Amino acid sequence: MSSAAVDGHRDRLEGKAALVTGAASGIGRAVTERLTGAGMDVLAVDLRPDPDGPGIPYEADLTSPEANAGAVTAARERFGRLDVVVANAGVQHVAPIEEFPVEKWQTIVSLLLTSPFVLAKEAWPALRDSGSGRFIAIASAHGLAASPYKAAYVSAKHGVIGLVRTLALEGAEAGIRTSAICPGYVRTPLVERQIPDQARAHKLSEEDALEQVILAPHAVKELIEPSEVAEVVAFLAGPAGRAFTGAPVIMDQGWTAR
Ligand SMILES: NC(=O)c1ccc[n+]([C@@H]2O[C@H](COP(=O)([O-])OP(=O)(O)OC[C@H]3O[C@@H](n4cnc5c(N)ncnc54)[C@H](O)[C@@H]3O)[C@@H](O)[C@H]2O)c1
Repeated sequence: MSSAAVDGHRDRLEGKAALVTGAASGIGRAVTERLTGAGMDVLAVDLRPDPDGPGIPYEADLTSPEANAGAVTAARERFGRLDVVVANAGVQHVAPIEEFPVEKWQTIVSLLLTSPFVLAKEAWPALRDSGSGRFIAIASAHGLAASPYKAAYVSAKHGVIGLVRTLALEGAEAGIRTSAICPGYVRTPLVERQIPDQARAHKLSEEDALEQVILAPHAVKELIEPSEVAEVVAFLAGPAGRAFTGAPVIMDQGWTAR
């Protein structure tokens, strides 16, 4: 991609404001870097925000509805506007259904589904005032296809796609566009931590464990880079993303083509 294509001015994001959740690590950090690089004011919300990271750090436990509302209020107060919300914070828990702790289910549904709902609800007036409001959820290929032992994650990711579809219909007349980005496996701490574990468990080299175990659902056996997800967010947030609303935006290395 030419540098002109990633030039912030061409995105026409400069001077606008965003709120990004899960901004201290992985995809959220890359999204915050990309949007601040394009000249946006970004509130970087996380459990443990990085004071040296991109954006303005804001600490919140987003499993609490009140904390989500507080983050939106903080963004509006700091920036006087809010044009883009990126609901990205997430966690995983892997267990068979009989052993799946109810508390883990509740935490995952709170963070992956209720948090985006409350963020959208609270940000709605500001997104309407923006005239080009965007609500972008980082969903997953697991919003479209299941894997065993991930009941809460798969259910919540399917749910957030339903939320994004509903909000697209509600926001249409106000110029608010909503999207659910659905990546396959992305090179983040969350995934990188699993490589040595899977290598040991399957008695494989780390390279083989990545390709044969973790990337098994991908048609193309390559990880996606966080910056590539961030680039899609910037595209959807800018004027070129105008026609994208109410739909999953799939970037899954061919996972769901099967
Ligand atoms: N990595 C992947 O392969 C992949 C693939 C598809 C979708 N996703 C989704 O992308 C999003 C980001 O994932 P990532 O891989 O960058 O993960 P990550 O673990 O690198 O980052 C997640 C961030 O969320 C924050 N967080 C966790 N619980 C929180 C809470 N209660 N309140 C506030 N912040 C909290 C963490 O502190 C962390 O900074 C998640 O929604 C994930 O489901 C990831």
